[in-house]
Amino acid sequence: MLNGTCERRYSSRYSAYLYPENKLVKMIRSFTHHDIERILEIEAQSFPKSAYNRITFIYFSKLYPDSFLVYEKDEKVCGYIIFDRKNGHIFSIAVDPEYRRMGMGQALVRWVSRKCDRMWVEVRLSNEVAKAFYKKLGFDDRRYLRWV
Ligand SMILES: CC(C)(COP(=O)(O)OP(=O)(O)OC[C@H]1O[C@@H](n2cnc3c(N)ncnc32)[C@H](O)[C@@H]1OP(=O)(O)O)[C@@H](O)C(=O)NCCC(=O)NCCS
Repeated sequence: MLNGTCERRYSSRYSAYLYPENKLVKMIRSFTHHDIERILEIEAQSFPKSAYNRITFIYFSKLYPDSFLVYEKDEKVCGYIIFDRKNGHIFSIAVDPEYRRMGMGQALVRWVSRKCDRMWVEVRLSNEVAKAFYKKLGFDDRRYLRWV
């Protein structure tokens, strides 16, 4: 169990919480290829019917190297977010089910809000959890899209 005062450090590349002996407890940082297996695991648990595959994540990491972020806690990747800095579009966000309701999703979206003036996201009407999540973060329902 870690004790002591937590120090917060920011840079344009990461946000980190360190304990006095500089032990990293949690941080938001850019995705690296070492994270891919954990990301695929989280993705499969979060979107069982529509998970992105390895190629899609690699594609995102090449296209958005600074806006494919992971949330790491005690050296374990627990969640991720991918967004477009130019227009604030959140492509995807997911948190490992074991780590939900701990504020990680919120922390990831708040990071994006520091980079983008506005944010937007598409949510399935049936995804009640995501709707509650975005509502809590102040997103408005604006438009309903229909798949054709
Ligand atoms: C949506 C998701 C990313 C939220 O991540 P999270 O880390 O659990 O969210 P947070 O802990 O930051 O929650 C922030 C707030 O959102 C709301 N919220 C989150 N999960 C909720 C749930 N299951 N039911 C109701 N409200 C919820 C709450 O208001 C919560 O604040 P509170 O815990 O103080 O009440 C996560 O549930 C997830 O990965 N879901 C599956 C993937 C998905 O649907 N992604 C969104 C696609 S658009």
